[in-house]
Amino acid sequence: LQDTGEGLKQLMRSYPQAVTVVTTANRGEPFGVTVSAFSTISLDPPLVMVSMTKGTAAHDVISGASHFAVNILAADQAKISERFAGRSESHKFSFEGLAVEKAENGCTLIRTAVGHIECTRASSHDEGDHTVIMGKVTRVKHSHDAPPLLYYKRGYTTVASTVPTPSAADSLFGEW
Ligand SMILES: Cc1cc2nc3c(=O)[nH]c(=O)nc-3n(C[C@H](O)[C@H](O)[C@H](O)COP(=O)(O)O)c2cc1C
Repeated sequence: LQDTGEGLKQLMRSYPQAVTVVTTANRGEPFGVTVSAFSTISLDPPLVMVSMTKGTAAHDVISGASHFAVNILAADQAKISERFAGRSESHKFSFEGLAVEKAENGCTLIRTAVGHIECTRASSHDEGDHTVIMGKVTRVKHSHDAPPLLYYKRGYTTVASTVPTPSAADSLFGEW
């Protein structure tokens, strides 16, 4: 019997997720962390969530923040994702060299991102090995009509501009 936690982790590698950098002001200093566990929860009122792994520095900063911003990365921004996941030697977690601006809520926005969602923390939920942080959306900016950066099978990819035609899909699922 496959361990369900491990099975879930492995299956989710085949589930593409868009990549964001969640930013906040940490004691006045700009802070950012790469997050794919982001989703819209409600439109009226507008609510979004991010889910942070317990036991990391980023968890403590984001779950303790009164405001945060979600920067949706573009397909050519894998290096920015790696940087804010702490995987880049030269620019770990730093905004150095990036075009940024201050959000109305004080968080840092990465100007070249597809879009930005500014939030005020609405609630946080202790769920297993993660904390789910709900944000009330205070401002949205769609900056660039660029394809998104996706994380899939432990690597980066983006969307294809077409899906298989119905007839091609039929042959794919012929045995159904
Ligand atoms: C593509 C990608 C997506 C990630 N998504 C999340 C996420 O949704 N939640 C999270 O807590 N960490 C996520 N991480 C990990 C964090 O970016 C970061 O590596 C980790 O929190 C750093 O821990 P530290 O602050 O203790 O150094 C992701 C990393 C990558 C590369």
